[in-house]
Amino acid sequence: MAASLESVSDFKKAQVQAFDDSKTGVKGILDSGITKIPSIFHVKVEQSTQTESNNYTTIPIIDLQHIKNKTSNHDHIEIVDQIKSACKNWGFFQVINHGIPLHVLDEMINGIRMFHEQDAESKKPFYSRDKNKKVRFFSNGKLFKDMAANWRDTIAFAANPLLPNPEEMPSVCRDIVAEYSKQIKALGVTIFELLSEALGLDLSYLNEMECAEALYIMGQYYPPCPEPELTMGIAKHTDCDFITILYQDQIGGLQVLHENQWVNVPPVHGALVVNIGDILQLMTNDTFVSVNHRVLSRTIGPRISVASFFMNFTISECTSKVYGPIKELLSEENPPIYRDVTMKEILTNYYAKGLDGNSYLLPLKL
Ligand code: OGA
Ligand code: NI
Repeated sequence: MAASLESVSDFKKAQVQAFDDSKTGVKGILDSGITKIPSIFHVKVEQSTQTESNNYTTIPIIDLQHIKNKTSNHDHIEIVDQIKSACKNWGFFQVINHGIPLHVLDEMINGIRMFHEQDAESKKPFYSRDKNKKVRFFSNGKLFKDMAANWRDTIAFAANPLLPNPEEMPSVCRDIVAEYSKQIKALGVTIFELLSEALGLDLSYLNEMECAEALYIMGQYYPPCPEPELTMGIAKHTDCDFITILYQDQIGGLQVLHENQWVNVPPVHGALVVNIGDILQLMTNDTFVSVNHRVLSRTIGPRISVASFFMNFTISECTSKVYGPIKELLSEENPPIYRDVTMKEILTNYYAKGLDGNSYLLPLKL
């Protein structure tokens, strides 16, 4: 018995290795003309009680049109209240009138599409699992740790705080990635101000904690899937960062786990999805929640999204700055739940684990 189990896992390992060696990702598999997906993509049936919700509830949409840096302003206070409530109850919200022009957003989706839809030979030189590389193409960041591979390819760009030189970037998208990252970073600074206010802290608190310093942009490409019921676009997970700002195209498939139900995040053209990541949950001592989410695979597509993580994922450039529950938020009634931790330790723990839906914040609990 044991021997046969072993050989099943050896078989799986060999398949995973062959897939990685191909350097052509999920799109390469699809382009080869398959009608059944390889077994390394098969997910186990979820043994939980989670159900699909009706389509009537969804994450809040917050209009940023009237934000001003004056707390006396009525509209501004209202926006801060909406953000506070969204971060406590959902961990997710969408923003509209955020100031990033629609053409920049749509050109970014298009640039990511063009990268993934180039011929395979042009993409191969970027294919890498080296966590110190600041531009890299890969399929499934945790391929060798996950139970099942997901139906998704990624092109990632690190800006810690600056993007690499243009000649290190793929020529099909380097200009728009530079423009997009500049705009997202500026919006990040604004959102960290609003989050600071929502916590009752000085406007500049989270920016002074360097939350907006490093940005990691992942251009996600979810090819159409011939057997969507057998796999996921991205398995249930929380994000390891301060916040994530996501732009998705019009295909849909992103879901958020809210009160034990999977709730759809409907695409709103021009809106950006913001979510709280694990590190901000830790810093706020669980006041703001980092919530599980996933992306379904579909027969239609490709689906393209751009996830901008406020986080330094480049191990060699990661600082030893310490993060823990913010002292100003603690009291006798609200004692610290987590211990202080360096960014290096967070990142090391993150890379050591698969995308299995369990938070690596747990070992940090006091
Ligand atoms: C992620 C993520 C959602 C999406 O990249 O962490 O959750 O819609 N992406 O692509
Ligand atoms: Ni995510």
